[in-house]
Amino acid sequence: MTSRIGILTGGGDCPGLNAVIRAVTLHARHTYGWEVIGIRHGFQGLYDEDVVELTYASTQAVLGRGGTILGSNNRANPFAYPLAMPDGRREVHDVSARCLANLATLGLQGLVVVGGDGTMGVAQKFIDRGATRIVGVPKTIDNDLAATEYTVGFQSAVEVVVEAIERLHTTAEAHDRIIVVEVMGRYAGWIGLTAGVAGGAHIVLIPEIEYDPARVIDALHRRHGRGNSYSIIVVAEGARMKGGGYSVETAGDATRMERLGGAAAKLTELIAAKTDYEVRATVLGYIQRGAEPCAFDRELATRFGVKAVEMIAQGTFAHIAAMEHGHVVAKPLAAALARLKVCDPAGELVRTARAVGIELGA
Ligand code: F6P
Repeated sequence: MTSRIGILTGGGDCPGLNAVIRAVTLHARHTYGWEVIGIRHGFQGLYDEDVVELTYASTQAVLGRGGTILGSNNRANPFAYPLAMPDGRREVHDVSARCLANLATLGLQGLVVVGGDGTMGVAQKFIDRGATRIVGVPKTIDNDLAATEYTVGFQSAVEVVVEAIERLHTTAEAHDRIIVVEVMGRYAGWIGLTAGVAGGAHIVLIPEIEYDPARVIDALHRRHGRGNSYSIIVVAEGARMKGGGYSVETAGDATRMERLGGAAAKLTELIAAKTDYEVRATVLGYIQRGAEPCAFDRELATRFGVKAVEMIAQGTFAHIAAMEHGHVVAKPLAAALARLKVCDPAGELVRTARAVGIELGA
């Protein structure tokens, strides 16, 4: 009997997911002769028994395509699943038993779960309940998963932000304006800090360093006092003023995390109230998650996908493919979930930013 493995993409999408799906399919079929099935829309496909066979044909020409051909879902947590009731209401139920039973029926030799912390958390719970043949591939533009130096999607998001900052430099300069650009990243400042350094931002505000508004205003006065006519401020969606909380756009509930948003608007208002500078806000939003993966992510996704298949072949379950010192290795899933990977306020990247004069707000 031919062996069969499965793959699903869970949580928010990001560039590079299709490159993982392709690599898993090609390596599994080509090297091992395994069948590969895709579970659609994350764990929802396990509940709905919505699966599709992945073949050479279906994964052809997807290496550089954004999104995910399997679909994704960040509300399909089997342990807190929003079920549609006949009257149109949604009720939260634990549907994990049904999902686990459907998974068993599929008779998979291994399941590749491509996801961030939420999806990996569900994978861990499945393992704890006996569905042990699971391996993970870390993806998220936020790059906040511990146990790996890079997650699929992060570099592509950074490329988008850097390009946006480049564009904002010229329009800000033309009008002698301050432009505040809000970027994603949730509770981690990786996108903001990396793109801020790469894009030549003047002020970068990240969740890991609570900012002092007076310091931001002083930095603007200092810059403009020495003849600079404009400023670019990168503010992570999770940035917080000293003593303040996160800017929350939508509160979370049992089925989903809170959604951040509004950090740029808050700061723009403050600058407008305290200075005479002309100030504008730009929120990059989902543009950071869309379109094609950059070369780095295509390569990373391919390496992670191949590693995931190898892990199944070797029986190294409950592990994720991870990047460590430039090498792809297997790391325990539990290590990825142990903590959120955030920027070190005293780390090399923060020190580099400060060394080139970027104001970090504290
Ligand atoms: O985790 C990826 C991410 O894009 C975050 O940067 C952002 O805060 C969040 O997802 C947005 O989530 P949603 O897709 O639910 O709006």
